[in-house]
Amino acid sequence: MPTDPAFALPTEPGFRLLGESAAIRSVRDQIARIACSDAPIAIHGESGSGKELAARDLHQHSRRAVHPFIAVNCGAIPEALMESEFFGHRRGAFTGAYEERGGFFEAAHRGTLFLDEVAELPPAMQVKLLRAIQERRVRKLGGQREEAVDVRIISATNRDLAEAVRCGEFRQDLYYRLQVIELRLPALRERRDDIALLARAILTRLAGESAPQLAPEALQRLCAHDFPGNVRELENILERALALATGAELQPEDLLLEAIAAAGQRDPASPLADGEGMPARPPALPLSLPAHLREIESALLVRALRQSRFNRSRAAALLGISLRQLRYRLQRLALHDID
Ligand SMILES: Nc1ncnc2c1ncn2[C@@H]1O[C@H](COP(=O)(O)OP(=O)(O)OP(=O)(O)O)[C@@H](O)[C@H]1O
Ligand SMILES: [Mg+2]
Repeated sequence: MPTDPAFALPTEPGFRLLGESAAIRSVRDQIARIACSDAPIAIHGESGSGKELAARDLHQHSRRAVHPFIAVNCGAIPEALMESEFFGHRRGAFTGAYEERGGFFEAAHRGTLFLDEVAELPPAMQVKLLRAIQERRVRKLGGQREEAVDVRIISATNRDLAEAVRCGEFRQDLYYRLQVIELRLPALRERRDDIALLARAILTRLAGESAPQLAPEALQRLCAHDFPGNVRELENILERALALATGAELQPEDLLLEAIAAAGQRDPASPLADGEGMPARPPALPLSLPAHLREIESALLVRALRQSRFNRSRAAALLGISLRQLRYRLQRLALHDID
C-alpha cells in the first residue's frame, strides 16, 4: 500500500467529499446515516468548504438518487421573479409569461431541492416557502389548483442563521423547519491533514495523471496557509499555479500566496483605491462600451472579493452595493464560482 496520504482513497465508496481527516470522515459518516431519512437538513460551513458537494453526496446516498437534484442559489434570483421561479406560473400570469412553466419544486419532484444561500431569501418568500414545505403543495402563479410535491429539502448557508433570526432577518418558524438535522462542514484550516490529498486530487482533475507534483516546500507552504476561501481557494491557487509553472514541479512562488495575503491586508480605509488591474486611462476609441464596462465591473468585483477574503457581505460593503446586488452581478458576469 502506498503510504503517501495523497494516494489514499476514501474508505466509503461513492463520496465526492474527499479527505481522510477525522473531521471529514465524521461528515461522511453523518451523511451516510442521515441520507435515507426525508427530514430537512441544514448544512453550515464557510464559503468553499464543500456544502454543495455534501448536499450532492446526501442526495446520491438517498433513495431519491434516481430523481433530480435541483440546486437553487436563493441569493441570485431577482426578488420579482422568485415566486414564479420556485412555484412556476400559468400562461398569462404576468407580462411575458407566454407559456406555462413549472418551478423548482416541480422540477425536484421525488428528488432533492437544495436551497443554497438560504439566508438571502427575502421575508415575503420565506413565508411562501414555509407554507410549501409544510403543506407539501405548491400553486403556480396565476393558477387555481394546488399540486402535491414530494421533495426533500437541503439548505445551506455560510451565515449564522440563528443570528439572522435574532436580528429579525429570518423567520424563526422557517428556521426550525429547515434545521431539523444539522450538518457542519469543517473549514480547511481545521483539517490541514487533508491539504496534500486534496491538492493531489485537484491537480489530477485539472491536468490528468501526468499532472505536475507539488515540490515539498510548496506543499509545506500550502499546509501553513489559512484558506479563508477553503477548498475552492485551494482549487484556484492550483489552477493558477499550473498556468504559471514552468518546471516539472510546482514551486512555492508559483502559488502566489503572498499576493493573496497582501490583497487581504490592504488598508480597509481606502478599499479600492490603488487601481491595480484597472485601465490606467480610458482606452482608445472605437471600443465596445458594454464589453469594456463588463471588464471593469468584473475586475472590481474580483478585487473586492479577494480583499474581503471572499466574505461576500464585506465585498458588497466595499463596493457600496447590497449583498443581493453583488450576487446578481456575479451571476450575470459568470463569476459566481470565483471563491
Ligand atoms: N472535501 C472535498 N473534496 C473534494 N472537493 C471539494 C471538497 N470540498 C469542496 N470541494 C470542492 O471545492 C469547491 C467548492 O465546494 P462547494 O461549492 O461545495 O462549496 P460551498 O461550501 O458550497 O461554497 P459556497 O459557500 O461558496 O457556496 C468545489 O469545486 C468542490 O468540488
Ligand atoms: Mg455553495
